[in-house]
Amino acid sequence: MIIAPSILSADFSRLGSEIEMVNSSAAGLFHLDIMDGMFVPNISYGFPVMEAIKKIAAKPLDVHLMVMDPDRYLERFRDAGASWISVHYEACTHLHRSIQLLKKLEVKAGVALNPHTPVHLLEDILDDLDFVLIMSVNPGFGGQRFIERSLEKVRRLKSMILERNAKTLIEVDGGVDTGNAPLLKQAGVDILVAGNTVFRSADPVKTISDLAVCQEAPGTVK
Ligand code: DX5
Ligand code: ZN
Repeated sequence: MIIAPSILSADFSRLGSEIEMVNSSAAGLFHLDIMDGMFVPNISYGFPVMEAIKKIAAKPLDVHLMVMDPDRYLERFRDAGASWISVHYEACTHLHRSIQLLKKLEVKAGVALNPHTPVHLLEDILDDLDFVLIMSVNPGFGGQRFIERSLEKVRRLKSMILERNAKTLIEVDGGVDTGNAPLLKQAGVDILVAGNTVFRSADPVKTISDLAVCQEAPGTVK
């Protein structure tokens, strides 16, 4: 399981040491949430912060764009250091064009789905995607409760991928913890995003390892 700690939950007053912690851990990616205050009711951070992270990050940056009409900024995000970029299905009128642009920019191309968007809407584009990001909370904020129905969505997406013999990876984002990680793995998830679970942990490096092996923390309430 690849773990992508979500920097949104980090302590920004000591961002450098939070990045070093992730560098020293079993995490595979840095997850960066970009919010425009239009697509989602929140504003996060932008290029200057991302470029600062890129300078010291020892792992690839996975950039989740919660932005309307993201085509306007894709090249800038690539230039700022993104290796993986996901755009929202709900924010792209011409999704095929957005995905082709990501491919041209030679980054891993992903589509994120809000909780209400069914996976079958990806039927005609799945073969072009390096990954699909299933939102297991409504996007906009860290620390929300996992929507249980997301497990069923992952299972359906996994069978679509297997039917096509595609290489598309499945990423899940929102409310992930050491209690639901084993269930998500079983359902077919490849990448787990975790914000609060990692950054509010007393031992974040161990929590990242526990998530990576999908080991349930003692006393986890389901
Ligand atoms: C929510 C973001 C998530 C968020 C996850 O809109 O896309 O990446 O930071 O945070 P947790 O793991 O705390 O739900
Ligand atoms: Zn995210």
